[in-house]
Amino acid sequence: MPLLPMRVLLDHAAENDYGVGAFNVNNMEQIQAIMEAARETNSPVIVQASRGARAYSDDNYLRHLMLAAAELNPTIPIVMHQDHGNSPQTCFSAIEMGFTSVMMDGSLMEDGKTPSTYEYNVKVTKEVVEVAHAKGVTVEAELGTLGGIEDGHGAGLTGDEALKHLTDPAQAEEFVAETGCDALAVAIGTSHGAYKFTRKPTGEVLKMDIIAEIHRRLPNTHLVMHGSSSVPKELVDIINQYGGKIRETYGVPVEQIQEGIRHGVRKVNVDTDSRLAITGAIRKVFAEHPEKFDPRDYLKPARTAMKEVVKARMIAFGQAGWADKVPTLTLEDMKRKYHDMGAVG
Ligand code: G3H
Ligand code: 13P
Ligand code: ZN
Repeated sequence: MPLLPMRVLLDHAAENDYGVGAFNVNNMEQIQAIMEAARETNSPVIVQASRGARAYSDDNYLRHLMLAAAELNPTIPIVMHQDHGNSPQTCFSAIEMGFTSVMMDGSLMEDGKTPSTYEYNVKVTKEVVEVAHAKGVTVEAELGTLGGIEDGHGAGLTGDEALKHLTDPAQAEEFVAETGCDALAVAIGTSHGAYKFTRKPTGEVLKMDIIAEIHRRLPNTHLVMHGSSSVPKELVDIINQYGGKIRETYGVPVEQIQEGIRHGVRKVNVDTDSRLAITGAIRKVFAEHPEKFDPRDYLKPARTAMKEVVKARMIAFGQAGWADKVPTLTLEDMKRKYHDMGAVG
């Protein structure tokens, strides 16, 4: 089956009250881990690549790996999504490369660090929506600014600073009307990376009420939760047990994500948990078998460890069991739909 436009999957998720994990990839093993988890749980999937991932893996390798994933898994609906596009140009080149969904993150300037103005965000998002929808491609936007910093992407805000940049529900309503985006990433107190919270976050820290209010105002816009890794202690412990140095830290509890899903969150971004699983598995092999030097000896366990964490998230978010029920609409179908809807763009 051809790669699926993300809007089709998120519409289906909304109709059936489930959330979909969007897992970041940089290489073949990570794509294989996600596909294996999807096969074992009958889950539709969103595979996403950041700008850094595209540069690391080279667009062409990534594109062909994704086509291989689709060829080998004809029953699994697969979305290929650009994570945190920093400019319209990044989104356009992703569309050229065959991505079926793009994120125009206009909450930050093109440097991916400096918080932008609302006007700038509307302008760049609208520009991307016009081009993307004319090709049937889905657009995710972001309003508000997340905390943390992930290899150069992110405003680098601390937890407290991030709380000053939460998404304003009234502005979100205006933003979606002005841009016509399909999905909206909201800032509710999460941040990218492993060091999110110094203690287990409560309802005070993660603003679920903001999600509920945005969903009330925008019932047809799919909400996206970035920075949704749970940073499980078991995974951190494995890394530290085998020579790593990750200090005490807490992520977003799965139950809080499930609450978000009950209030309109449809896409849940997870990268750090996969990174932790892979690193722990590799460190274990290195520590226990210092004589080994065949990459397969450590990449296989790494792939399995990532598969396990992805599988657990697929089950928890509710996407498990739905792969064969998602409509198989193409970019052409979506192009016609956007045209008929007279949507912006
Ligand atoms: O949002 C950030 C994702 O975790 C991707 O991170 O830019 O290091 O590839 P990256
Ligand atoms: P984590 O760092 O929590 O995995 O978040 C990933 C993310 O939001 C990618 O866009
Ligand atoms: Zn993100």
